[in-house]
Formats: sequence, structure tokens, C-alpha cells
Amino acid sequence: MRAMVCDSPKDGLSGLKLVDLPAPATPKAGEITVRIHASSLNFHDFGVVSGRIPTKPGRIPMSDGAGVVEAVGEGVSEFAVGDNVVSTFFPDWLSGEPTLGDFSRTPGDGLDGYARECVTVPASWFTRAPKGWSHQASATITTAGLTAWRALVVEGQLKAGDTVLLLGTGGVSIYALQIAKAMGARVAITSSSDEKLDKAKALGADFTVNYQKHENWGGLVKAWTLDRGVDHVVEVGGPGTLPQSIHACRVGGNIVLIGVLTGVDGTIPTGAMMLKQISLNGIIVGSRQHQQEFVRGLEGMNFMPVIDKQFYLSDMAEAFAYEASGHHFGKICLTI
Ligand SMILES: NC(=O)c1ccc[n+]([C@@H]2O[C@H](COP(=O)([O-])OP(=O)(O)OC[C@H]3O[C@@H](n4cnc5c(N)ncnc54)[C@H](OP(=O)(O)O)[C@@H]3O)[C@@H](O)[C@H]2O)c1
Repeated sequence: MRAMVCDSPKDGLSGLKLVDLPAPATPKAGEITVRIHASSLNFHDFGVVSGRIPTKPGRIPMSDGAGVVEAVGEGVSEFAVGDNVVSTFFPDWLSGEPTLGDFSRTPGDGLDGYARECVTVPASWFTRAPKGWSHQASATITTAGLTAWRALVVEGQLKAGDTVLLLGTGGVSIYALQIAKAMGARVAITSSSDEKLDKAKALGADFTVNYQKHENWGGLVKAWTLDRGVDHVVEVGGPGTLPQSIHACRVGGNIVLIGVLTGVDGTIPTGAMMLKQISLNGIIVGSRQHQQEFVRGLEGMNFMPVIDKQFYLSDMAEAFAYEASGHHFGKICLTI
């Protein structure tokens, strides 16, 4: 079985190595064997393969994995051989309240991930994939897709007519744009690139603003809502963007903090946030139950995730270098 491993994590992308590993064991009771056909790149995976997030030598990276069930162990009734499935980000968080505040049990970080051809794991580590989706499209569900869904639908209780602010045009934000438009919301989105903003408009974005050209992008978004402010913000920037996001948000609005692209510490206008009675909550992806609900939701919405570019497993370093260049719009996938 071919796999990509972080052979020498301190060397970053040049420490990635394609290796041959023994095929996984046949599934025991409660387990399934999945032939992995695709994965997708996330900022978190980049942290692991670039050495920013420490990992052990030999770690198999990638949190996202999609493929076909090849064998089922005794007692598995949820899946049958031939089913298309997609991995979950927190294999032990099945439903209810979050249980873990770190990545110690996340495939591709604390556990081996899906940059490999085959895996045998408990059946509960996967859910079914949406009917009719390619493995590449399904692989975008585990991290980026589910985070966008949880931010808007689970936490935000999004409804038709709501206004949503999205920052940048990376994997999570473009997924959030597609979900929000499919559910009848109106969307403002920012980017450093006018060309990317044109692509966002083509996907249905109602208002766009270049955050590099307009420092007061939050004020422009607020003006677009006739000064009411947006109902929801999916915050990927953290301290460098939160002041403008708070400015753009309506009284009683909802900001879901999912990323810290601008850093982890900074000055936040807490007074403005309190006066506006804004709810700010941090989230990390979601539970298996959230993913099952999301997969059902995707089958009811009429879109396919935007995949900017695909690479083969052997070209993983090139794929991450492309992500680091910031040229992408939406998701980058791996074919395995
Ligand atoms: N909490 C969670 O569960 C969770 C899940 C997934 C991702 N995340 C986090 O969310 C963030 C985005 O992840 P991703 O996978 O979507 O990354 P990505 O695909 O690499 O996208 C990054 C994009 O962010 C935009 N960006 C960078 N700096 C920005 C700034 N100052 N203001 C506004 N936009 C900015 C850029 O868009 P333009 O090129 O358009 O300017 C860039 O292309 C990362 O911090 C990641 O770790 C968190």
C-alpha cells in the first residue's frame, strides 16, 4: 500500500516521502476497510506537513479521506461493501457536546490520516458520502465543508433572507458561500483579489469588497445592509479581522470564529462587541452527527464544491506549495 508520510517533520514539505506500507488488516468486529480515493487540503494539514504543528516522524498526514468500503467486519450494519464513504474529523465525537479541545485524536495530526491507499478503522470513523458525488468532492466534506455548515446552520441557525459575511476565498469561505446561497441567504465576501471576487459573484455573492484596497471593509459591508449589519460572520482571520467583523455585524448578530489566519493574539474591541450584544463562539469542525446531517443537507442543495485544482498523492508537496501561494479559490484536492 502506498502512503505519504512526514518522514522528517522538521524539514517541512521536503521531509514528505512516498513509501510502501503493509496493507491494513482485515476488519475485526465493528470495523471497515476503506479504499481511499481522494483527500483534500486544509490549512491545518499544511501546519502538520510544513512542520509548524509538531508531529512524530512517520506520521501519515491528511484529515480528509473519501473512498469505497472494501470489507466490513462482524456486526457492521451501517455500511456494505461498495458504499461510498467519507471520514470524520473527530472520530470519537459522535454527537452532543464537543469533548476534545485539541487535535490529539484527529487523523492526520494526533493519529495517522488518509494520505494512503487503504485503511481499516472502526465504522464510526466514516459516514456515507452524498449520492452521486465524486470521491474528490466528498473529500472536501470532512473539514472545510462541515466547518462551514456548522458555523452557519448548527451554530448560526441560518434561514432564508439572512445576511452573511465571509472573509477571503479559501476552502471554508467558498463552501460557506455555496451553502448560504443554496439556503436563500444574501452574502457579502471579501478577498485580496478582484479576480477572485468576480468568481465569487459568479457563484452568487451579492456584495464583494477587496480587503486590501479598503481598510474599512466592515463599514462597507454594513452600508450594504443599509446600516443594519449582517446576521452572521464566519471569521477566518482572528485578531487582525475581528474589529472590522464586529463593525459589520448587526446588534444581536452572530460571529463564529473558525480561523486565526492573522495570528492568535491582538486587540479586540470588546466594548463594541458587548454593546452590540454579539455572540462570538469558537468552533472546531463538528461531530459525526453534524456530518450525517450535512450529507443529507448536501443532497437537498443543488451544488458541487468548488475544486480549484487536483494533484496526485505523489505530488503532495507541490499541492501544499500551491495552497501556500494563496492562488487558489475554494478547495485543492488529492487523487489517491
Ligand atoms: N475551526 C475549524 O474547524 C476550522 C476548519 C477549517 C479551517 N479552519 C481555519 O480557517 C482558516 C481558513 O482555512 P481554509 O482551509 O479555508 O484556508 P485556505 O483555503 O488556505 O484559504 C485561505 C484564504 O484566506 C484568505 N485570507 C488570508 N488572510 C486573510 C485576511 N487577513 N483577511 C481575509 N481573508 C484572508 C485568503 O483569501 P483571498 O486569497 O481571497 O484573499 C486565502 O486564500 C484557517 O485559519 C484554518 O486553520 C478552521
